Amino acid sequence: MRLRQVQAQIAAELRRHAIPDSQLEAEVLIRHALQYDRARFYASLAERLSAKDLEHIQGLVGRRVDGEPLPYITGHREFYGLDFIVNPAALIPRQETELLVDAALDFARAHHQGDIACADIGTGSGAIAVAIASNLPRAHVYAIDRSPDALAVAKRNRRKHGVADRVSLLQGDLLAPLTNSVDLIVSNPPYIASGLMRGLPMEVRREPQIALDGGERGLEVIRRLLTQAPSKLKAGGRLIVEISPEQLDAVRQMARAEFPRDDITHRNDLLGSARCVVVDRA
Ligand SMILES: C[S@@+](CC[C@H](N)C(=O)[O-])C[C@H]1O[C@@H](n2cnc3c(N)ncnc32)[C@H](O)[C@@H]1O
Repeated sequence: MRLRQVQAQIAAELRRHAIPDSQLEAEVLIRHALQYDRARFYASLAERLSAKDLEHIQGLVGRRVDGEPLPYITGHREFYGLDFIVNPAALIPRQETELLVDAALDFARAHHQGDIACADIGTGSGAIAVAIASNLPRAHVYAIDRSPDALAVAKRNRRKHGVADRVSLLQGDLLAPLTNSVDLIVSNPPYIASGLMRGLPMEVRREPQIALDGGERGLEVIRRLLTQAPSKLKAGGRLIVEISPEQLDAVRQMARAEFPRDDITHRNDLLGSARCVVVDRA
């Protein structure tokens, strides 16, 4: 069978299983199996595939229709223009989290010409920490996670992007492993309410529970983070926490209780939904 027909068949199979972007996903799965870049893929549409190649491709398609997220199959995900290694030990970085990186880089460039100490709490694959370090050549980032398995993924990503000397990996609970105070604290914490975990789409349930479950109303990890933050954030520093839009009022109130005299704002995504709460310390 020719590559063009294989792509059409796989796209139809993915569509039958309600997988969106079926044409593109079919291309990505085939390219991953054959190790083709885009140019080679499009130049080879008339090529006949061997039985071995077809079997390999069908194996990947089987995993996909079984609910495995595409990035776990390919082992890669793009975030902030960088290619990250991902596996089931760490959350797949989400596009909406790029807003948090924007807010971090804006602050660092405007206030410290990028010469800052930053803490990324719940670093997972290291996506946020590595994106910040890659864009701020004078910054040092302390990337903290409770999960040793997630930190192993972050370790590979800091090496891949050449920032191992400026991203320190620390294992432990929230800000506890941090011995010094920092200019910037960023976090995309687990913020899904425990009661909603069972109803999550099958694909999301393949990601680590520790990365998603935020306790009652999804606010427990954020609450503890905000309680710990005042002792670790320098005067003039910034704290940025990603939230789910409906948590805005609750998180603003919690932030106000811990930072009574500081400036508390939020950032909306392109659809106008609140995605980050930002505390600017006086
Ligand atoms: C939503 S994921 C974010 C991962 C990554 N920062 C990103 O944006 O793609 C949350 C991360 O927080 C970590 N985590 C959960 N509870 C924690 C805690 N108490 N202390 C430190 N890390 C924690 C999880 O292991 C997970 O890697």
